[in-house]
Amino acid sequence: MPDAPPHETPAGSRPGSGAPPHPAGLTIRAREPGDWQEVAALMDLPKVRFGTLRLPFTSKEQWRKMMETPPDGMTGIVAVLHGRIVGNAGVVQHKGRRSHAGDIGMSVHDDFCGRGIGSALMAALVDASDNWLNLRRLELTVYVDNEPAIRLYRKFGFEIEGTRRADVFRDGRFVDSFAMARLRDAASAPP
Ligand SMILES: CC(C)(COP(=O)(O)OP(=O)(O)OC[C@H]1O[C@@H](n2cnc3c(N)ncnc32)[C@H](O)[C@@H]1OP(=O)(O)O)[C@@H](O)C(=O)NCCC(=O)NCCS
Repeated sequence: MPDAPPHETPAGSRPGSGAPPHPAGLTIRAREPGDWQEVAALMDLPKVRFGTLRLPFTSKEQWRKMMETPPDGMTGIVAVLHGRIVGNAGVVQHKGRRSHAGDIGMSVHDDFCGRGIGSALMAALVDASDNWLNLRRLELTVYVDNEPAIRLYRKFGFEIEGTRRADVFRDGRFVDSFAMARLRDAASAPP
């Protein structure tokens, strides 16, 4: 098998991660500006919108611009199955005195949930954060009723730190969300 470029992790070969292999045929690679149409379609799916902060009627032009100008410190990745983007995720490293911390977000295509794709994306982000970006604290926000996501995050060592009440307006009502975080090395992490 030919060597994959360093940013690609094909099925079953993730040296050093200690994580189980990806689902068969799945590749995790860097997100490229040229992915914007597929990513925009994925992020507009009903379950994805329900679990994230996405708004309906985001124009293609807005998506193209967002993908062409990612925030500073963003490591964006996609999960590709048989040539199709089925997952989208990223970690944004904070700046200055919070540069040891990063914010995580992820979404899996509505039709591909429950197949280990979210776990593969999280394993890749944790590996990049721990072993390459030297992040000590990973944080994220999740709706309190998003059980699959909360279970996934717990599996990777995230803990609930608090509840944000009436945090987000979703489908006609306010919902609470959990602030979750994972400390790489609690013993030596900053207080
Ligand atoms: C949350 C999400 C990323 C999970 O991705 P996924 O590919 O379905 O996750 P996986 O198949 O890797 O499953 C990961 C874990 O989630 C849990 N899980 C998955 N589907 C579940 C379900 N229907 N009910 C309960 N738990 C579930 C399991 O604990 C599973 O781990 P296990 O199989 O080792 O027990 C995906 O459901 C998603 O994108 N949802 C819409 C957008 C969203 O909510 N994003 C998160 C924003 S915070």
